[in-house]
Amino acid sequence: MGFLDEIKERATALKRTIVLPETEDSRILEAAAKLVKDGIAEIVLLGDEEKILADGKELGVALEKCRVINPVDETDEKEDLIELFVELRKHKGLTREDAKEMIKNPLYYGTLMVKADQVDGMVAGAANPTGDVLKPALQIVKTAEGINSVSGAFVMIVPDKSFGQDGKLIMADCAVNPKVDADTLGEIAVASAETAKKIAGLEPKVAMLSFSTMGSAKHKLVKKVQQATKKAKEIDPDLLIDGEMQADAALVPSVADRKAPESKVAGQANVLVFPGLESGNIGYKLVQRLAKAEAIGPIIQGLDKPVNDLSRGCSVDDIINLTAITALQV
Ligand code: ACO
Repeated sequence: MGFLDEIKERATALKRTIVLPETEDSRILEAAAKLVKDGIAEIVLLGDEEKILADGKELGVALEKCRVINPVDETDEKEDLIELFVELRKHKGLTREDAKEMIKNPLYYGTLMVKADQVDGMVAGAANPTGDVLKPALQIVKTAEGINSVSGAFVMIVPDKSFGQDGKLIMADCAVNPKVDADTLGEIAVASAETAKKIAGLEPKVAMLSFSTMGSAKHKLVKKVQQATKKAKEIDPDLLIDGEMQADAALVPSVADRKAPESKVAGQANVLVFPGLESGNIGYKLVQRLAKAEAIGPIIQGLDKPVNDLSRGCSVDDIINLTAITALQV
């Protein structure tokens, strides 16, 4: 069984409920129908029920088994969410009036449902940019205990099975933090190892990437990665992690033998932590295109409850896969 089939099978066994707020997008409606039909998750759709069902009919998909909530309707459930929203954000100056307006935005309504445990997670981003999906999550769901920074990881499946674990690797942060300090980078490493275990079923071997291997270059950016490695070890002393190292030393045993012979990670890394968002985002896209790798994600890690962001170019299958992954993150 392929990795994605395995993910969907694991999600099906969990029977989680996921909210999909972007019902104006036909791909979301098609994915919702398939998710419910295949039993991968229970689905809540946000919007006008009549319109959603009519759109579904036009697409030839059955949406009757999805629960539909309209964020503009005045209901007791919505009143409770407004109260929760004000309680969570009043220290930031959020008034009841503002909250009442903002909750009409399905991205806020859905995020508040996640926070209030009315659903297990949210998947959005088919019709909204990353920032619009992540900001409500960062403001309302917030980070998990002990984590200060949310980040985005990809499961990469490369055709050459000699890399990572059977061709499977985690790459992070490829999606969220334009600016990282050493402590944040250390946290990203720990969160990525968790994603490697929980989602990809890997025994994490974490390489902290740089343009230098084990002190071969002296630079403040190299030092940052060294400090991040130390921080990750402080957070999780049992973590198999090493750095700083170059990508070839992380991945190729013969290079590792020369550049980092003592390392238990070099040459066999399956979690690659990039030193910044620029290298991370560019890096995963290069591997995806040049190596014809499958890139699954970004999987948003570090939030207290799962909210995941789709690419606006996503396919119906991408939505189904990310919903299944979200179910596994709960
Ligand atoms: N982790 C945890 N909390 C965070 C993070 C983070 N990484 N970033 C911001 N926050 C919190 C802030 O502390 C703040 O909390 P508060 O309001 O309770 O004080 C809240 O989020 C909002 O902060 P802002 O400063 O308003 O948010 P910001 O402008 O930093 O936006 C965002 C956050 C949207 C994630 C931004 O960093 C961003 O746009 N990142 C890049 C996303 C992107 O474009 N990625 C590439 C495309 S994705 C792809 O190609 C796969």
